[in-house]
Amino acid sequence: MADVTFDFTNLIEVEGGLEQRDISETRPRLEEAAKRLLGDSPGFMRLPKTSEYAEASAALAEEIRASGATDFIHIGIGGSALGPMAVHKALRHPYYNLISERPGPRMHFAENVDPTTLSAILDVSEPGGTWVNVVTKSGSTAETMANFLVVRGRLAEALGDFGYQERTIATTDPEEGFLKQIADREDLKVLPVPKDVGGRFSVLTPVGLLPAAVSGLDVDAMLAGARQCVEEVEERGAEHPAIVGAAMHYLMDTARGRNVRVMMAYSDALERLAAWFVQLWAESLGKDGKGSTPHGAVGTTDQHSQVQLYMEGPHDKVVEIIEVENHGRDLEIPKAYSDLEGVGYLGGHSIAELLNVECDATREALTEAGRPNSTIKLGEINEENLGYVFQALEIQTAISGSLYGVDAFDQPGVEAGKEITYKRMGR
Ligand code: PA5
Repeated sequence: MADVTFDFTNLIEVEGGLEQRDISETRPRLEEAAKRLLGDSPGFMRLPKTSEYAEASAALAEEIRASGATDFIHIGIGGSALGPMAVHKALRHPYYNLISERPGPRMHFAENVDPTTLSAILDVSEPGGTWVNVVTKSGSTAETMANFLVVRGRLAEALGDFGYQERTIATTDPEEGFLKQIADREDLKVLPVPKDVGGRFSVLTPVGLLPAAVSGLDVDAMLAGARQCVEEVEERGAEHPAIVGAAMHYLMDTARGRNVRVMMAYSDALERLAAWFVQLWAESLGKDGKGSTPHGAVGTTDQHSQVQLYMEGPHDKVVEIIEVENHGRDLEIPKAYSDLEGVGYLGGHSIAELLNVECDATREALTEAGRPNSTIKLGEINEENLGYVFQALEIQTAISGSLYGVDAFDQPGVEAGKEITYKRMGR
């Protein structure tokens, strides 16, 4: 069972927070939105109950691992990269590529088109043992295809013109697009990105499942956590915290002018989860002059960087703390310097204890200062809990789209820049 809880108390009880009246007024629209979501069952809602993508991803991952792969290069951007990167950062060793007891090949994510990053990936990977996963739903994203062409060229140089084919996977629309054409022409392995699932909602498709399985993660457990969330939502409808949260954040923005939503994760491992969420919220809701601005932060690090602003800056923020009860590993802080009161008190406590005390202290200080905050608490960081959180935040975003009256599943605002790029690059 996934162990994830939501606490919105400090959005209501804090000075200037939401009132019961605000929530009651939104209630009918929230219920309507929940009913529509469950009735329409958009693609991302069906994924947790679909086993075919997990099975296909696990089988291919097994083949990759069995081949003695040394490196796995995941090429993709935006929704085709942020989910997989969030999973990897959350659940694998922070120095995964360096440790000897690694369960799979070294993992590399080529997201941006940055010559330094891409060169570095090529510097450290061994062409003879490299597998490449090109991930683009549209099949023509300039950044992804450019990175692919470079990596492909490097592998072809080392392995012969078509030597790279055997170890190249196209994760893309199963029927159309330029990448699909290349895959057909060169007989590449293909994993589907379902037509009815957009990039930023695709972490539980092969987009996120293949890299997770390649690095030895339990993709079934990830789906099980997401499934639990969907089943709870089916049972509780608008009462479910994932959906209640949509109303809370919508109201904080539209009724209280708090139009910055800070996701502050008290765990380094969840830093990329916040980055994934930032894209999900921004690209889904920032339309027609509406939407609130998401921002990612890490505790305790950003206590020494941004909390001053959260505490005393403009009253435009809601801080959503992600708390982890059990960090899996811990280190006792040795007793020393007991005669120095500014240092000695630390001895006998632990690193995890200090992290969680500071998390609680930040929450308390924000509340006392009249700064609205909410908490998502994970029992621990594991596949099931992560799957649950992905699904809950996707549901919350889709419901928020209904409340704002925007289509959460399109992104017309990014097309203009793409068109200019195409023109300048001679497409
Ligand atoms: O969420 C989205 O739809 C976008 O962020 C896309 O994932 C991103 O633009 C990459 O698109 P594609 O997968 O087609 O390369």
